Amino acid sequence: MRRTRTYGAVVFVVLAGLGLSACARTFSVTIDLDDKREPISKYIYGQFIEHLGRCIYGGLWAEMLEDRKFFYPVTGEAPAWTMYKPGPRSWDGEGHPYELLTASPWMIIGDKKSVSMMTEDPYVGEHTPQITLSGDGTPGGLLQERLGLVDGKDYAGRIVLAGDPQAAPIEVSLVWGGGAGDRHTVVIRSISPSFAKFPLQFTAKGATDNGRLEIVSRGKGHFKIGTVSLMPADNLFGWRADTVALLKELNAPVYRWPGGNFVSGYDWKDGIGDPDRRPPRKNPAWKGIEHNDVGLHEFLQLCREINAEAFIAVNTGLGGAEAAAEEIEYVNGAPDTPMGRRRAQNGHPKPWGVKWWAIGNEMYGDWQLGHIPLEEYVKKHNRVVDAMRKVDPTFKPIAVGAKGPWSRQMLTTCADHMDLISEHLYWQDRNDVVSHVSQIAAQIRDVADAHRDYRTSIPGLADKDIRIAMDEWNYWYGPNEYGELGVRYFLQDALGIAVGLHEFFRNSDIYFMANYAQTVNVIGAIKTTKTQAEFETTGLVLKLYRERFGTIPVRVGGDFKPLDVAAALSTDGTVLTIGVVNPTDQAHSLSLKLNGGTLAAPGQQWTLTGADKWSHNAPGKPRQVDITTRAVPTATDSLEVVGLSVMLYTFGAQ
Ligand code: AHR
Repeated sequence: MRRTRTYGAVVFVVLAGLGLSACARTFSVTIDLDDKREPISKYIYGQFIEHLGRCIYGGLWAEMLEDRKFFYPVTGEAPAWTMYKPGPRSWDGEGHPYELLTASPWMIIGDKKSVSMMTEDPYVGEHTPQITLSGDGTPGGLLQERLGLVDGKDYAGRIVLAGDPQAAPIEVSLVWGGGAGDRHTVVIRSISPSFAKFPLQFTAKGATDNGRLEIVSRGKGHFKIGTVSLMPADNLFGWRADTVALLKELNAPVYRWPGGNFVSGYDWKDGIGDPDRRPPRKNPAWKGIEHNDVGLHEFLQLCREINAEAFIAVNTGLGGAEAAAEEIEYVNGAPDTPMGRRRAQNGHPKPWGVKWWAIGNEMYGDWQLGHIPLEEYVKKHNRVVDAMRKVDPTFKPIAVGAKGPWSRQMLTTCADHMDLISEHLYWQDRNDVVSHVSQIAAQIRDVADAHRDYRTSIPGLADKDIRIAMDEWNYWYGPNEYGELGVRYFLQDALGIAVGLHEFFRNSDIYFMANYAQTVNVIGAIKTTKTQAEFETTGLVLKLYRERFGTIPVRVGGDFKPLDVAAALSTDGTVLTIGVVNPTDQAHSLSLKLNGGTLAAPGQQWTLTGADKWSHNAPGKPRQVDITTRAVPTATDSLEVVGLSVMLYTFGAQ
C-alpha cells in the first residue's frame, strides 16, 4: 500500500529580475498516483510534412537550385520573385523574407534570344533549354542567383548536358563574390548529342546570400541543359543535414506524408525512378512547383535516418482504389509482385512494411480535389481499403473524419474499414494568453467527447475501439514569413501546444495519434533560412515533452485555473513528471498534495519561457525562448512557476 502524504506549504513567490511579484498566488494541486489512466501513446508526438511551400523543398530537402528541371520556360525576363511581406509585431528586421517563384529563376548569359525551349525529346518535363552560341567567343549560357553559400563549405551536384562537340568546354561555376577569384569552376571538356551526366564539386571560399551558379560555353553550335542539381555536400541522402539534426532532437516517432491537400492531386508514380527524369509539375493544391525529387524512396529513407515510422496518405480525391492498391504493393509487396518488382528495379528489393496509411485527406471539404458527397465517399473509402487489404491484409487504415455528421457517418458505414479515424484542429490568435491557450484544451476535449458519444450511440462501435488520430493540429495565424503558410510562432503558442499535449494525455483512452502540422517552415515547428535551421518555440515544447514526460497519466485534481497541470509516471512507476503551463505573466506557486506515494529527491526542473508573449526564435539568431534546467535538491511540496512558462518537474516516486 502506498502512503498518503500531504504537502501543505503556502508560498508567495517573488521572482526578482522578472518583476512579476504582483498577484502571485498559491494553487493547491492533488496528484493521485493510484488513479492511473491509460498509457499515453507515443504516437501523440507525431509529425506531418507536406509538399507545400518550403516544408520539403527549401526546408528539409537539400536542393539549392530553384526549378532545376526547367518547369518554367527560360525567357530572359527578370525572374519573378514574390517577396513575402513582414507583418507587424512579428517582423523586427531579423528574419528572412522568402520568395515565391512564379516564373523561371534562370537568367540568360549573352543574347536573350539565344535560348529556346525544345519540346522535342525533352530530357525531363515538357521542354529543355537549348543555348545557341554566337561562335565568336562571346559567353552563352544560363545562371541562377540567390544561392545561400557558407564560407569553406563543400557543395556537390550534377549536370546533364547534350550538344555539339564544338560547344565544349562547358564551364560550371559556383560564384560567391564579384572578384575574379570569387568562383570555383568545374570544366566539362567534351559533350555529345546524347545527354550525359557530369558530377559537380565545389568549395565556397566566401559566405553570401546571393551566390550564383553559372553554366557557360564560349564554343560553337548548340548545347542543351537537361537538368542540374546542387546541394551542400554534407546532405544525408538528399536531406539537409542541419534540419535533420533538429528532427533527430525532436525524435517524433511517426511522420505523415505527402499531404494534406496536396495528396488529393498527387500521382505517387511521379515520385519514383531516376530523380532527374521525374516530371516537374505545378503543385496541384498549393502555389509552387512539385519537383518530384522527393518521392516514396526518399521519404522512407528519411524515416529510417531519423528512426521514425512512416504514415503514408493515399489519394482518395482524384485518385482511386487501383492506384492506392498499387502504391501499397509498391511499398509493402514482395519483390515478385508486379509493383514490388518495380520497387526492386528502383533499388529497394526489400519491402518497407509500412503499417500506417491515411485513406485520403479532409475529403469532407469542397477545397479538396476530387471532393464528393459523404454518401458517395463512404463507399469510395471502403473500396479503397478493400483493394489495399487484398494486397496487404495487415495494414492499418486511418479514415478521414471531421467531428459531426461526417465522422458519425464514416463510423457508421466504414467502421470495419478503419483502425483509427482522423480529426484536424487549427487555432487562431486570441487577445489574451489565457484564452489563447485554453481554447486548445477545450476543443481537443470536445472532439474526444464527441467520439465517446459515437461509441455509445452507434450500434456495435463500442466493441471496435476506434481511436482518434488528430493528424493535423496547430496554431495557424499571422503573416507568411517563411514561404507559403510559413507563419512564425511565439512564446504564447508554445504554452498552447503544451496545453494541447496535456489534453491528449488527459484523454489517453481515445487519442492514439497526433501529428503536429507541420514540421518545417509551413506552420512549422522548425524554421529554416537557406543556410540555417532553428526550433520554433512550439518545437522546443514538443521536444521537451517527448524527451521528458512520463507515460502513465495520473489524476490531477484541484482548482488551479488558469494554470494547466498534467502528471504522469514513468512506465516502471518510479519517476513522476509534472507539467505546468502558466499563461499569466505572474509567477505563482503550486502547493502539492500527493496521494498514493511520496516524492524522492533529487528532482529536476525544466523551464521554457521568454521575455513576453511575443518572444520568438529565428534561425541564426540568439534564442528569445529557450529551455533551462536545474536540479531540485529536495523533494518539495511547493513548486514555483515562472510567469508565461511551461515547466516540467521530475521526481522519484516511492
Ligand atoms: O497543413 C496545411 C493544410 O491544412 C493541409 O494541407 C490540409 O489538410 C489542412 O487543411
